[in-house]
Amino acid sequence: MSDLRSLLQDLDSLVPDCEARLGQASSLSDLEEVRVEFLGRKGRLAKIMSGLPALSKEEKPAAGKKANEVKTALTEKIEDRQAAVERAAVLESLSRFDPTMPGRKPQEGSLHPVTLAMDEICDVFIGLGFEVVTGPEVENDWYNFEALNIPPEHPARDMQDTLYVSDSILLRTHTSPLQVRTMLEKKPPVAVIAPGKVYRRDSDITHTPMFHQIEGLLVDKNVSMADLRGTLTAFVRQLFGSKTDVRFRPSFFPFTEPSAEVDISCVMCGGKGTVDGKPCRVCKQTGWVEILGCGMVDPNVLGSVDYDAEKYSGFAFGLGIERVAMLKYGIGDLRMFFENDIRFLEQFA
Ligand code: PHE
Repeated sequence: MSDLRSLLQDLDSLVPDCEARLGQASSLSDLEEVRVEFLGRKGRLAKIMSGLPALSKEEKPAAGKKANEVKTALTEKIEDRQAAVERAAVLESLSRFDPTMPGRKPQEGSLHPVTLAMDEICDVFIGLGFEVVTGPEVENDWYNFEALNIPPEHPARDMQDTLYVSDSILLRTHTSPLQVRTMLEKKPPVAVIAPGKVYRRDSDITHTPMFHQIEGLLVDKNVSMADLRGTLTAFVRQLFGSKTDVRFRPSFFPFTEPSAEVDISCVMCGGKGTVDGKPCRVCKQTGWVEILGCGMVDPNVLGSVDYDAEKYSGFAFGLGIERVAMLKYGIGDLRMFFENDIRFLEQFA
């Protein structure tokens, strides 16, 4: 047999051999083995072709042509088989996919308890006819202190208590500047509430440098302390229940006269001072808990916004939202609000 004939025969045998091997290949790695065996650098095709140099110049083109045909055929067969194996794998994985299975739920967030309390407090006052206003957290001295009848020597202005940005710019220490801003903008009658963040240089178990307040202001003709008491009683009963009692204790704020602090009957023990015979921890056995400061708007404040103090009077109040949230949701530690522990926050979903 001539060298050419035997070489061509060898080439011809590659295709059926390869087909047989492919018939048994069931994975991509099996297929790779077959490819290496036939088409690899040291594979069967390469080995046969190593006989090429021994052929005569006339024989070489025929051998080369045949080799190319075989190479194309082998490549095609392997690729076809590979496509079939891949398709089978997809079908197999689809057969395990159950479209009727419930999906995985994305984790849903929830409103922060401070936001919940704030919304609820606002809703009560909106129901009483108050309008919501907001103002800047970075305030100047005049709005935060001066116009509120807080003189320059007042201890509240001390660097110990107030976070200053510059000599006259500061982070508001309360929402009371909104009293001033509101009265400068509107003519009486006004009835507004102003929720927002306030800042003080204070940090311990019961104080955080930032907390939330809601300011209330109502100015009209003939507004009296009785109106204040009636409004706050209605508010407290809507928020904490109709059996809640309210008491006013005389107090002092530079911007209200007279001033009072308001206590409500303890939400924990109902004012009894004990829970199941044990001392109530929320009110420390007094039966009362403080929730806000208030009073009749000082005539000096009305004067600083050009309201006629002879004609108009008003009341104002300010309450801490964290405090309300703690009482309402039975939260024992102020720090919980700011730690962002998901296990705590989830409970308000
Ligand atoms: N601004 C006072 C405070 O932060 C609360 C207050 C507001 C008191 C309005 C009286 C009237 O303590």
